[in-house]
Amino acid sequence: MRPLSRRSALMLGGAGAAAAATGAAGLLWDQGMGFQAAGGLDLSEPQALRSADGRLQVKLSAAAGRVSIAGRDATALSYNGSVPGPTLFLQPGDRVNVTLENGLADPTNLHVHGLHVSPQGTSDNVLVSVEPGTSFNYEYRLPANHPPGVYWYHPHHHGSVADTIFGGLYGAIIVQDSQPVPVTRERVLVISDISLTGGGSIAAVSAMEKMMGREGALVLVNGQLTPVLAARPGERERWRVINACTSRYQKLRLDGQDLQLLGLDSGRYQSPRDVEEVVLAPGNRADLLVTTAAGTAILRTLPVDRGSMGSVMGGNNGSGQSRPGPDGTILATLSVTGSPAAAPGPVPAQQPPRDLRSAPVTARRELVFAMGMGMNGGGMGSGMMSFTINGRPFDPARVDTTVPAGAVEEWTLRNTSPMDHPVHLHVWPMQIIEQAGRPVDSPVWQDVVNVPARSSVRVRIAFDDFTGKTVYHCHILDHEDSGMMGLIEVRWRSGPTVLCMNEKTDEGAQQ
Ligand code: C2O
Ligand code: CU
Ligand code: CU
Repeated sequence: MRPLSRRSALMLGGAGAAAAATGAAGLLWDQGMGFQAAGGLDLSEPQALRSADGRLQVKLSAAAGRVSIAGRDATALSYNGSVPGPTLFLQPGDRVNVTLENGLADPTNLHVHGLHVSPQGTSDNVLVSVEPGTSFNYEYRLPANHPPGVYWYHPHHHGSVADTIFGGLYGAIIVQDSQPVPVTRERVLVISDISLTGGGSIAAVSAMEKMMGREGALVLVNGQLTPVLAARPGERERWRVINACTSRYQKLRLDGQDLQLLGLDSGRYQSPRDVEEVVLAPGNRADLLVTTAAGTAILRTLPVDRGSMGSVMGGNNGSGQSRPGPDGTILATLSVTGSPAAAPGPVPAQQPPRDLRSAPVTARRELVFAMGMGMNGGGMGSGMMSFTINGRPFDPARVDTTVPAGAVEEWTLRNTSPMDHPVHLHVWPMQIIEQAGRPVDSPVWQDVVNVPARSSVRVRIAFDDFTGKTVYHCHILDHEDSGMMGLIEVRWRSGPTVLCMNEKTDEGAQQ
């Protein structure tokens, strides 16, 4: 654990204001943009809405207005008046009804990120547009074998995804375990970032920042700045951590405490893994166990090099990425004091995860994620950077990838650009098979897979259970809004009989 005096050396956020102290309530921080944030308050958690008897019915009202952010009044976007919105606690097999009310000035919709539910109709359909002043009734049916884990919801209206999430629209979804993990307490920690003006409204974002993927000057946990968590020694806490930042990667550390990873994104590992650091690309989630030891520990996020525009732009000014000091940015303080707690019982073992490495592959594809100067040969002055997959920007009228239901496909995600792209597929998680040409030696499942600059990752996907149209895209949401997204349609096979999957093994690459 770091001695307390180290804190004064830590940098807070991208604006570079020195963090003077955490743990003292009411301290004000000037983020260089004039917004006076108050850090060091006790952690608060979003309202919990829990399903009962297989049902949950909720209303989410998206609107702009006064909300509390970083301990102060701000004017931002929110669901139900709070940032983050309420946490939905679900069970496998649940039927969930969400009435989305659009009180915003622009169309919106709702996406349940990571949930394995139908992308059609009134389910997780990102092609829906809910006009201002209207509402839409979503219904999600979780399969009885839905994996437990940490999920989240956010708007997915193409073109405004980055602005609306940056503005405050996001919330957590927890799918509970069938066999509970014995813990002293659970916490939901939604990490997000935002830049606010002195008047407390959302700061404008430059075209350059959008190209890089904007990073906010304030990094928040549950809408708070450097909140304080209290525990006794010997407790076991379960932290559900979501990286809801528009573009900012997290490399989390909690020195002096015992960290174990139960799972990443959806599902759980067979047994918890000891970890020192957890890297979360935008959209990724961590299911963490913290076994507490006496003292004060700082949850930090360390800088992650996600590439730069330098070689694209012919310069080295990849602005938009914040540059915290080498010790990173303080997210929260864990204060562990008092008499030791009784040791909690063992973590129940999980079934081994599914492994597609030996599954017959029905098709292979390559998706090339590229950035280039705009179509009109513009260059810096005129040009917008183009963000494409297989040479084309997103077009909601064009299906890019058609997959027969039940297929197991192998996709090579190739990044030809000088920046990382965290690639996300809706509805169906991806098993990572190979990274930078090296095979992965255990089954790793994620729904956001980082593809490093000028590198590639190979994944396998089992298109189980659902048909319909949905999307894959870069989860640096400015890139998604700029076109780095494709439409996928999963369809029943045509023909009088259902084909046996094995007959279709290796039918080769399809575009
Ligand atoms: Cu979290 Cu398509 O997104
Ligand atoms: Cu998603
Ligand atoms: Cu990207």
